[in-house]
Amino acid sequence: MYSRKAYGPSKDVLSYKAGTQTPTEIRDGYTEQQQLQYTKYLKQLRSEFQQRWCQPAQYNIEFSELERVKTLGTGAFGRVILLRHTKSNKLYAMKVLEKEKVIKMKQVDHTLYEKRILEAIRFPFTVSMEFSFKDNSYIYFIMPFVPGGEMFTHLRRMGKFEEPLAKFYASQVVLALEYMHFCNLVYRDLKPENILIDRNGYLKITDFGFCKILQGRTWTLCGTPEYLAPELILSKGYGFSVDWWSFGVLLYEMNAGYPPFYANEPMKTYEKIVAGKYRCPSSFNADLRDLVRNVLQVDISKRFGVMKNGAMDYKNHKWFRGIEWEAILNCRAPPPFVPKYRSPGDTGNFERYDEEPIAPASYCRYESEFMEF
Ligand SMILES: Nc1ncnc2c1ncn2[C@@H]1O[C@H](COP(=O)(O)OP(=O)(O)O)[C@@H](O)[C@H]1O
Ligand SMILES: [Mg+2]
Repeated sequence: MYSRKAYGPSKDVLSYKAGTQTPTEIRDGYTEQQQLQYTKYLKQLRSEFQQRWCQPAQYNIEFSELERVKTLGTGAFGRVILLRHTKSNKLYAMKVLEKEKVIKMKQVDHTLYEKRILEAIRFPFTVSMEFSFKDNSYIYFIMPFVPGGEMFTHLRRMGKFEEPLAKFYASQVVLALEYMHFCNLVYRDLKPENILIDRNGYLKITDFGFCKILQGRTWTLCGTPEYLAPELILSKGYGFSVDWWSFGVLLYEMNAGYPPFYANEPMKTYEKIVAGKYRCPSSFNADLRDLVRNVLQVDISKRFGVMKNGAMDYKNHKWFRGIEWEAILNCRAPPPFVPKYRSPGDTGNFERYDEEPIAPASYCRYESEFMEF
Protein backbone atom coordinates (compact mmCIF):
# COMPACT_ATOMS: atom_id res chain seq x y z
CA MET A 1 0.00 0.00 0.00
CA TYR A 2 1.07 3.55 -0.63
CA SER A 3 2.26 5.11 2.58
CA ARG A 4 3.19 8.79 2.68
CA LYS A 5 5.87 8.32 5.28
CA ALA A 6 7.75 5.41 3.81
CA TYR A 7 9.12 7.41 0.87
CA GLY A 8 9.96 10.57 2.78
CA PRO A 9 13.12 12.48 2.01
CA SER A 10 16.04 12.42 4.39
CA LYS A 11 16.00 14.98 7.17
CA ASP A 12 18.69 17.21 5.74
CA VAL A 13 16.58 18.06 2.73
CA LEU A 14 13.85 20.62 3.15
CA SER A 15 10.48 19.35 2.10
CA TYR A 16 8.78 21.52 -0.44
CA LYS A 17 5.35 22.86 0.37
CA ALA A 18 3.28 23.54 -2.70
CA GLY A 19 0.88 26.42 -3.12
CA THR A 20 -2.86 26.09 -3.49
CA GLN A 21 -3.15 24.01 -6.64
CA THR A 22 -5.94 21.52 -7.01
CA PRO A 23 -4.97 17.91 -7.69
CA THR A 24 -6.36 17.98 -11.25
CA GLU A 25 -4.13 20.89 -12.15
CA ILE A 26 -1.11 19.05 -10.79
CA ARG A 27 -1.90 15.89 -12.71
CA ASP A 28 -2.09 17.69 -16.04
CA GLY A 29 1.35 19.19 -15.88
CA TYR A 30 2.75 22.21 -14.11
CA THR A 31 1.17 25.66 -14.19
CA GLU A 32 3.09 28.92 -14.45
CA GLN A 33 1.85 29.73 -10.96
CA GLN A 34 3.34 26.51 -9.59
CA GLN A 35 6.62 27.17 -11.38
CA LEU A 36 6.75 30.71 -10.01
CA GLN A 37 6.33 29.38 -6.51
CA TYR A 38 8.88 26.64 -7.10
CA THR A 39 11.38 29.18 -8.41
CA LYS A 40 11.21 30.93 -5.03
CA TYR A 41 12.11 27.63 -3.40
CA LEU A 42 14.97 27.10 -5.86
CA LYS A 43 16.30 30.57 -4.99
CA GLN A 44 16.36 29.56 -1.34
CA LEU A 45 18.20 26.32 -2.19
CA ARG A 46 20.67 28.28 -4.31
CA SER A 47 21.46 30.75 -1.55
CA GLU A 48 22.02 27.80 0.83
CA PHE A 49 24.31 26.21 -1.76
CA GLN A 50 26.28 29.46 -2.04
CA GLN A 51 26.64 29.77 1.73
CA ARG A 52 28.03 26.27 2.07
CA TRP A 53 30.26 26.88 -0.96
CA CYS A 54 31.88 29.84 0.83
CA GLN A 55 32.24 28.17 4.24
CA PRO A 56 34.72 25.33 4.54
CA ALA A 57 33.10 22.30 6.16
CA GLN A 58 34.19 21.11 9.62
CA TYR A 59 34.04 17.48 10.67
CA ASN A 60 34.05 15.96 14.12
CA ILE A 61 34.77 12.35 13.31
CA GLU A 62 38.01 10.36 13.46
CA PHE A 63 39.12 8.57 10.33
CA SER A 64 40.20 5.64 12.53
CA GLU A 65 36.58 5.11 13.62
CA LEU A 66 35.70 4.00 10.09
CA GLU A 67 36.05 0.34 9.22
CA ARG A 68 36.43 -0.83 5.65
CA VAL A 69 33.79 -3.35 4.52
CA LYS A 70 33.85 -3.85 0.75
CA THR A 71 34.50 -2.23 -2.63
CA LEU A 72 31.34 -0.90 -4.31
CA GLY A 73 32.81 0.50 -7.50
CA THR A 74 36.02 1.41 -9.26
CA GLY A 75 36.89 4.29 -11.53
CA ALA A 76 39.74 5.96 -13.32
CA PHE A 77 41.48 7.41 -10.25
CA GLY A 78 40.46 5.17 -7.40
CA ARG A 79 37.60 3.24 -5.89
CA VAL A 80 34.47 3.57 -3.79
CA ILE A 81 34.37 1.49 -0.62
CA LEU A 82 31.58 0.66 1.82
CA LEU A 83 32.50 1.70 5.37
CA ARG A 84 31.02 1.14 8.80
CA HIS A 85 31.39 3.70 11.56
CA THR A 86 32.34 1.48 14.51
CA LYS A 87 30.72 3.69 17.16
CA SER A 88 27.33 4.28 15.53
CA ASN A 89 27.18 1.32 13.10
CA LYS A 90 26.25 3.82 10.37
CA LEU A 91 27.23 2.91 6.81
CA TYR A 92 29.02 5.18 4.37
CA ALA A 93 30.43 5.07 0.86
CA MET A 94 33.98 6.38 0.59
CA LYS A 95 35.52 7.52 -2.68
CA VAL A 96 39.30 7.09 -2.46
CA LEU A 97 41.39 9.07 -4.92
CA GLU A 98 45.11 8.57 -5.30
CA LYS A 99 46.83 11.96 -5.47
CA GLU A 100 49.44 10.71 -7.91
CA LYS A 101 46.83 9.44 -10.40
CA VAL A 102 44.79 12.63 -10.10
CA ILE A 103 47.89 14.65 -10.96
CA LYS A 104 48.97 12.39 -13.83
CA MET A 105 45.51 12.65 -15.38
CA LYS A 106 45.47 16.43 -14.86
CA GLN A 107 42.34 16.26 -12.74
CA VAL A 108 43.40 18.34 -9.70
CA ASP A 109 41.01 21.19 -10.52
CA HIS A 110 38.12 18.84 -11.29
CA THR A 111 38.75 16.98 -8.04
CA LEU A 112 38.77 20.17 -5.99
CA TYR A 113 35.48 21.13 -7.62
CA GLU A 114 34.11 17.67 -6.85
CA LYS A 115 34.95 18.09 -3.17
CA ARG A 116 33.54 21.58 -2.83
CA ILE A 117 30.39 20.73 -4.79
CA LEU A 118 29.77 17.59 -2.72
CA GLU A 119 30.07 19.74 0.39
CA ALA A 120 27.65 22.39 -0.84
CA ILE A 121 24.99 20.47 -2.75
CA ARG A 122 21.73 19.41 -1.07
CA PHE A 123 18.85 18.08 -3.12
CA PRO A 124 16.64 15.02 -2.67
CA PHE A 125 18.11 13.34 -5.77
CA THR A 126 21.83 13.98 -5.33
CA VAL A 127 24.39 12.54 -2.91
CA SER A 128 26.37 14.93 -0.72
CA MET A 129 29.47 14.91 1.46
CA GLU A 130 29.43 13.63 5.04
CA PHE A 131 33.17 14.03 5.72
CA SER A 132 36.40 14.34 3.81
CA PHE A 133 39.98 13.48 4.75
CA LYS A 134 43.40 13.37 3.18
CA ASP A 135 46.61 11.56 4.11
CA ASN A 136 50.08 11.26 2.61
CA SER A 137 48.89 9.57 -0.60
CA TYR A 138 45.11 9.75 -0.88
CA ILE A 139 42.09 11.95 -0.56
CA TYR A 140 38.81 10.56 0.71
CA PHE A 141 35.24 11.73 0.13
CA ILE A 142 32.73 10.10 2.44
CA MET A 143 29.05 10.09 1.45
CA PRO A 144 25.94 8.29 2.63
CA PHE A 145 25.81 4.72 1.31
CA VAL A 146 23.11 4.37 -1.36
CA PRO A 147 22.30 0.64 -1.18
CA GLY A 148 20.18 0.05 -4.30
CA GLY A 149 23.15 0.04 -6.67
CA GLU A 150 23.59 1.71 -10.03
CA MET A 151 20.65 2.32 -12.36
CA PHE A 152 22.97 0.72 -14.92
CA THR A 153 22.90 -2.66 -13.15
CA HIS A 154 19.09 -2.72 -12.92
CA LEU A 155 18.68 -1.52 -16.50
CA ARG A 156 20.89 -4.34 -17.80
CA ARG A 157 19.12 -6.88 -15.57
CA MET A 158 15.65 -5.79 -16.69
CA GLY A 159 16.65 -5.21 -20.33
CA LYS A 160 14.74 -1.94 -20.40
CA PHE A 161 12.46 -0.09 -18.01
CA GLU A 162 8.70 -0.27 -18.24
CA GLU A 163 7.32 3.15 -19.08
CA PRO A 164 6.07 4.08 -15.57
CA LEU A 165 9.52 3.33 -14.12
CA ALA A 166 11.32 5.26 -16.88
CA LYS A 167 8.96 8.20 -16.26
CA PHE A 168 9.48 8.03 -12.52
CA TYR A 169 13.27 8.16 -12.93
CA ALA A 170 13.22 10.73 -15.74
CA SER A 171 11.13 13.14 -13.65
CA GLN A 172 13.70 13.05 -10.84
CA VAL A 173 16.57 13.66 -13.25
CA VAL A 174 14.70 16.65 -14.74
CA LEU A 175 14.28 18.12 -11.24
CA ALA A 176 17.91 17.44 -10.31
CA LEU A 177 19.25 19.09 -13.49
CA GLU A 178 16.90 22.03 -13.02
CA TYR A 179 18.28 22.47 -9.48
CA MET A 180 21.94 22.09 -10.50
CA HIS A 181 21.62 24.53 -13.38
CA PHE A 182 19.81 26.97 -11.10
CA CYS A 183 22.90 26.80 -8.85
CA ASN A 184 25.04 27.39 -11.98
CA LEU A 185 26.38 23.84 -11.90
CA VAL A 186 26.94 21.97 -15.13
CA TYR A 187 27.07 18.24 -14.32
CA ARG A 188 28.63 16.76 -17.50
CA ASP A 189 28.55 13.04 -16.74
CA LEU A 190 24.94 11.98 -16.70
CA LYS A 191 24.62 8.23 -17.42
CA PRO A 192 23.08 5.17 -15.72
CA GLU A 193 26.42 4.28 -14.02
CA ASN A 194 26.38 7.54 -12.06
CA ILE A 195 22.74 7.30 -10.98
CA LEU A 196 22.17 5.27 -7.84
CA ILE A 197 18.91 3.90 -6.48
CA ASP A 198 18.23 4.50 -2.83
CA ARG A 199 16.53 2.19 -0.40
CA ASN A 200 13.19 3.93 -1.00
CA GLY A 201 13.39 3.41 -4.78
CA TYR A 202 14.21 7.07 -5.47
CA LEU A 203 17.36 8.23 -7.26
CA LYS A 204 20.62 9.71 -6.01
CA ILE A 205 22.97 11.13 -8.61
CA THR A 206 26.60 10.58 -7.65
CA ASP A 207 30.01 11.40 -9.19
CA PHE A 208 30.56 15.14 -9.36
CA GLY A 209 34.00 14.54 -10.87
CA PHE A 210 33.22 16.63 -13.97
CA CYS A 211 30.77 19.03 -12.38
CA LYS A 212 31.69 22.69 -12.11
CA ILE A 213 30.31 26.16 -11.60
CA LEU A 214 29.77 27.65 -14.98
CA GLN A 215 30.09 31.30 -15.85
CA GLY A 216 29.40 31.78 -19.50
CA ARG A 217 30.77 28.98 -21.64
CA THR A 218 33.38 26.27 -21.27
CA TRP A 219 35.41 24.17 -23.69
CA THR A 220 36.73 21.19 -21.74
CA LEU A 221 36.20 17.86 -23.45
CA CYS A 222 34.88 15.52 -20.76
CA GLY A 223 32.11 13.00 -20.26
CA THR A 224 31.33 9.57 -21.67
CA PRO A 225 31.33 9.01 -25.47
CA GLU A 226 27.75 7.78 -25.96
CA TYR A 227 26.44 10.62 -23.80
CA LEU A 228 28.41 13.55 -25.27
CA ALA A 229 26.46 16.40 -26.83
CA PRO A 230 27.26 17.44 -30.42
CA GLU A 231 28.33 20.96 -29.38
CA LEU A 232 30.85 19.44 -26.95
CA ILE A 233 32.27 17.08 -29.58
CA LEU A 234 32.59 19.96 -32.04
CA SER A 235 34.57 22.03 -29.45
CA LYS A 236 32.20 24.90 -29.94
CA GLY A 237 32.15 26.20 -26.39
CA TYR A 238 29.14 24.95 -24.51
CA GLY A 239 26.92 25.49 -21.50
CA PHE A 240 24.14 23.73 -19.60
CA SER A 241 22.72 22.42 -22.90
CA VAL A 242 25.12 19.43 -22.74
CA ASP A 243 23.33 18.03 -19.67
CA TRP A 244 19.95 18.15 -21.40
CA TRP A 245 21.42 16.31 -24.38
CA SER A 246 22.73 13.60 -22.03
CA PHE A 247 19.29 13.50 -20.46
CA GLY A 248 17.89 12.75 -23.94
CA VAL A 249 20.37 9.87 -24.31
CA LEU A 250 19.40 8.59 -20.85
CA LEU A 251 15.69 8.85 -21.66
CA TYR A 252 16.25 6.82 -24.81
CA GLU A 253 18.46 4.23 -23.08
CA MET A 254 16.04 3.71 -20.17
CA ASN A 255 13.18 3.05 -22.60
CA ALA A 256 15.07 1.08 -25.24
CA GLY A 257 17.70 -0.73 -23.16
CA TYR A 258 20.53 0.60 -25.36
CA PRO A 259 21.75 4.11 -26.22
CA PRO A 260 20.68 5.97 -29.39
CA PHE A 261 24.20 6.54 -30.75
CA TYR A 262 26.52 3.61 -30.64
CA ALA A 263 29.47 2.26 -32.64
CA ASN A 264 32.52 0.10 -31.97
CA GLU A 265 34.85 3.08 -31.89
CA PRO A 266 34.24 6.44 -30.20
CA MET A 267 35.00 8.34 -33.45
CA LYS A 268 32.16 6.54 -35.25
CA THR A 269 29.86 7.24 -32.29
CA TYR A 270 30.76 10.94 -32.51
CA GLU A 271 29.96 11.03 -36.22
CA LYS A 272 26.48 9.69 -35.51
CA ILE A 273 25.97 12.16 -32.66
CA VAL A 274 26.92 15.26 -34.62
CA ALA A 275 24.70 14.09 -37.48
CA GLY A 276 21.91 13.64 -34.92
CA LYS A 277 20.97 10.34 -36.56
CA TYR A 278 19.18 7.72 -34.51
CA ARG A 279 16.15 5.45 -34.81
CA CYS A 280 13.54 4.83 -32.14
CA PRO A 281 12.50 1.21 -31.53
CA SER A 282 8.92 0.36 -32.51
CA SER A 283 8.03 0.05 -28.82
CA PHE A 284 8.33 3.86 -28.37
CA ASN A 285 4.89 5.48 -28.44
CA ALA A 286 4.16 8.81 -30.15
CA ASP A 287 4.56 10.87 -26.96
CA LEU A 288 7.94 9.35 -26.17
CA ARG A 289 9.15 9.81 -29.74
CA ASP A 290 8.07 13.43 -29.63
CA LEU A 291 9.90 14.02 -26.35
CA VAL A 292 13.10 12.29 -27.50
CA ARG A 293 13.03 14.33 -30.74
CA ASN A 294 12.79 17.55 -28.73
CA VAL A 295 15.71 16.65 -26.49
CA LEU A 296 18.11 15.06 -28.98
CA GLN A 297 18.09 18.29 -30.98
CA VAL A 298 21.48 19.09 -32.48
CA ASP A 299 20.28 22.70 -32.80
CA ILE A 300 20.60 24.00 -29.23
CA SER A 301 18.07 26.76 -29.77
CA LYS A 302 15.40 24.08 -30.22
CA ARG A 303 16.46 21.72 -27.42
CA PHE A 304 14.08 21.15 -24.49
CA GLY A 305 15.50 22.52 -21.24
CA VAL A 306 17.57 25.20 -22.97
CA MET A 307 14.72 27.31 -24.32
CA LYS A 308 13.05 30.16 -22.45
CA ASN A 309 10.60 27.89 -20.61
CA GLY A 310 13.48 25.86 -19.16
CA ALA A 311 12.43 22.68 -17.38
CA MET A 312 8.76 23.62 -17.86
CA ASP A 313 8.96 22.16 -21.37
CA TYR A 314 9.41 18.79 -19.68
CA LYS A 315 6.97 19.31 -16.85
CA ASN A 316 4.19 20.01 -19.37
CA HIS A 317 5.11 17.47 -22.02
CA LYS A 318 2.52 14.78 -22.80
CA TRP A 319 4.88 11.91 -22.02
CA PHE A 320 5.10 13.06 -18.40
CA ARG A 321 1.32 13.20 -18.03
CA GLY A 322 0.38 11.62 -14.70
CA ILE A 323 3.61 12.69 -12.97
CA GLU A 324 2.82 14.78 -9.91
CA TRP A 325 5.97 16.86 -9.77
CA GLU A 326 5.58 17.98 -6.20
CA ALA A 327 4.86 14.46 -4.93
CA ILE A 328 8.02 13.32 -6.73
CA LEU A 329 10.05 16.13 -5.18
CA ASN A 330 8.89 15.18 -1.70
CA CYS A 331 9.44 11.45 -2.39
CA ARG A 332 5.76 10.81 -1.77
CA ALA A 333 4.79 9.16 -5.05
CA PRO A 334 4.92 5.35 -4.77
CA PRO A 335 8.05 4.04 -6.54
CA PRO A 336 7.30 1.47 -9.27
CA PHE A 337 10.39 -0.51 -8.21
CA VAL A 338 12.21 -0.84 -4.88
CA PRO A 339 15.58 -2.63 -4.89
CA LYS A 340 16.12 -5.59 -2.57
CA TYR A 341 18.12 -4.73 0.52
CA ARG A 342 18.20 -7.70 2.87
CA SER A 343 20.22 -6.40 5.79
CA PRO A 344 22.31 -3.35 6.70
CA GLY A 345 25.47 -3.50 4.62
CA ASP A 346 24.03 -5.87 2.00
CA THR A 347 25.98 -5.20 -1.23
CA GLY A 348 23.95 -7.54 -3.44
CA ASN A 349 23.02 -4.67 -5.78
CA PHE A 350 26.67 -3.96 -6.60
CA GLU A 351 29.12 -5.83 -8.81
CA ARG A 352 31.99 -7.72 -7.18
CA TYR A 353 35.46 -6.21 -7.25
CA ASP A 354 38.87 -7.45 -6.16
CA GLU A 355 39.98 -5.71 -2.99
CA GLU A 356 43.24 -3.79 -2.98
CA PRO A 357 45.10 -2.40 0.00
CA ILE A 358 45.13 1.33 0.67
CA ALA A 359 48.71 2.00 1.69
CA PRO A 360 49.62 5.64 2.29
CA ALA A 361 53.29 6.55 1.85
CA SER A 362 55.41 7.36 4.91
CA TYR A 363 55.93 10.97 3.79
CA CYS A 364 53.43 13.49 2.45
CA ARG A 365 53.15 13.46 -1.32
CA TYR A 366 52.00 16.42 -3.42
CA GLU A 367 51.30 18.51 -0.35
CA SER A 368 51.15 21.85 -2.16
CA GLU A 369 48.97 20.63 -5.03
CA PHE A 370 46.37 19.38 -2.57
CA MET A 371 46.70 22.21 -0.06
CA GLU A 372 43.11 23.34 -0.56
CA PHE A 373 41.64 19.91 0.12
N1 LIG B 1 27.26 7.08 -2.25
C1 LIG B 1 27.41 5.91 -2.88
N2 LIG B 1 26.79 4.79 -2.42
C2 LIG B 1 26.97 3.62 -3.05
N3 LIG B 1 27.74 3.43 -4.14
C3 LIG B 1 28.39 4.49 -4.63
C4 LIG B 1 28.26 5.79 -4.04
N4 LIG B 1 29.01 6.66 -4.77
C5 LIG B 1 29.57 5.93 -5.75
N5 LIG B 1 29.22 4.62 -5.69
C6 LIG B 1 29.64 3.53 -6.58
O1 LIG B 1 30.98 3.72 -7.01
C7 LIG B 1 31.04 3.89 -8.44
C8 LIG B 1 32.16 4.83 -8.77
O2 LIG B 1 31.94 6.12 -8.17
P1 LIG B 1 32.05 7.44 -9.02
O3 LIG B 1 31.92 8.60 -8.11
O4 LIG B 1 31.10 7.35 -10.17
O5 LIG B 1 33.56 7.32 -9.51
P2 LIG B 1 34.25 7.58 -10.92
O6 LIG B 1 34.48 9.06 -10.95
O7 LIG B 1 35.50 6.81 -10.84
O8 LIG B 1 33.31 7.12 -11.99
C9 LIG B 1 29.63 4.38 -8.81
O9 LIG B 1 29.34 4.15 -10.16
C10 LIG B 1 28.79 3.53 -7.85
O10 LIG B 1 28.66 2.21 -8.30
MG1 LIG C 1 31.26 7.53 -12.26
